[in-house]
Amino acid sequence: MSNDPRYTGRNFRGHSRQEVWQTQSDPLLSEVGPGKPCGEFFRRFWLPIALTEQVGELPLRIRILGEDLVLFREKLGELGLVHLHCCHRNMSLEFGIVEEGGIRCSYHGWKYALDGTILETPCEPPASQVKNKTCLGAYPVVEYKGMIFSYMGPMELCPPFPFMDTFDEEGDVMIPYLIESPCNWLQVMENAWDPYHVVYLHTKAVRTQFIEAFAEMPKIQFHERDYGDFYTNTRRVEDIIWIRVHDLFLPSFTQNGGHFPIPDKSRYFGRCGLSRWVTPIDDTSTMVIAWRHFREGDDPKGLTDPNEVGLGKTDFYGQSGDRDYETRQKDPGDYDAWVSQGPINIHQRENLAFTDRGVAKVRRKLRSALNDLSGGKDIQRPSDVYENPIPTYGGDTMLNIPLQAGRDDAAIQKIVALKVAEIYQSGDKYTGQERKAFIVKELREYEQSWVNENSD
Ligand code: FES
Ligand SMILES: [Fe+2]
Repeated sequence: MSNDPRYTGRNFRGHSRQEVWQTQSDPLLSEVGPGKPCGEFFRRFWLPIALTEQVGELPLRIRILGEDLVLFREKLGELGLVHLHCCHRNMSLEFGIVEEGGIRCSYHGWKYALDGTILETPCEPPASQVKNKTCLGAYPVVEYKGMIFSYMGPMELCPPFPFMDTFDEEGDVMIPYLIESPCNWLQVMENAWDPYHVVYLHTKAVRTQFIEAFAEMPKIQFHERDYGDFYTNTRRVEDIIWIRVHDLFLPSFTQNGGHFPIPDKSRYFGRCGLSRWVTPIDDTSTMVIAWRHFREGDDPKGLTDPNEVGLGKTDFYGQSGDRDYETRQKDPGDYDAWVSQGPINIHQRENLAFTDRGVAKVRRKLRSALNDLSGGKDIQRPSDVYENPIPTYGGDTMLNIPLQAGRDDAAIQKIVALKVAEIYQSGDKYTGQERKAFIVKELREYEQSWVNENSD
């Protein structure tokens, strides 16, 4: 043992901790290719795969869930999604010819319908039966508000497209964006289920990246629904108890509260700033595909810019690698947090703590769903529980409930959050405007009940 005074009283343990470099990732949760449990799980859901603006006259080569694919719009305007390689002799269909009703390989002219059926084999003799003996892999596609979705699972299990209540609201302008990250999907997705990083990374670490009020440590409560989960994220800002609600539908759909809300007056059932999916490209690359919602009154200070939302970019800080390295080091954002965990985050190397309850919950639920699927059990999709439009909760409620003399405010915030969660859930029995009116009325009455309590 060295007697060097610089080392005495200190406890350097780099050598004894070197086992961290031997740890391995968790393939069950991270591998998304064909035949992998997590890959099959993703293949039971509709997933966004591209933006409308990416599909022009030429075929678009993309990779989704480890599969190389070509997305194209045939001459009458319908979209097709097929395996990359022509099933004749594997020339890539990114060099194919887009025609009416399908795509033609430019090597020997085999033409494919949108479902991958071979329509023509012009170089073959007329009697050739080859086109009836094989086909090209193809997947169904849905296009909505600038986003393109596909279902890549078995067709007999294909669920209806899950149309959420936030997808078509009056006065809401939805702008899609797509940003890639060079890392596994789970670390990108988990970030949305980690409400505590907002306090540090986005507010205290360097500067306020969103709003000052995020500096207060929130009180988080997790809630389960018949399908999916949500959490309430509660803070006091002067007389306001502010409850942000975040949705999660596995495998990777989340909605959060407004982006730049000002908690200075009552607000009842304000809706989400973001509807977001994490779509794996392969095991070590990922896309965030999301709609930013722009509604009147959501951004009182004018901090948003819809022009900044689109392919490779969005209007809030730190979502892509578009900043230089020094800027990223000095003022890191979400992208730097999830990408720097490594190509595939190694959970064995982590030490989950109290504030990681959301992350732990996501992993636990995912593992359980994957075990169900591998064991041959049915897995639930939103359409198994809800009819379209599927009720979601993401957004902000702000209630004017001042500090109550002689009562513990943390306890009050908890009571209020539980009640708000209960009110949201009780609205599920209604749809559309009726549901909204019911939730707003219940929230108003609840807020008023605190005034009555104090005047008794
Ligand atoms: S490789 Fe495509 S038609 Fe021959
Ligand atoms: Fe964040």
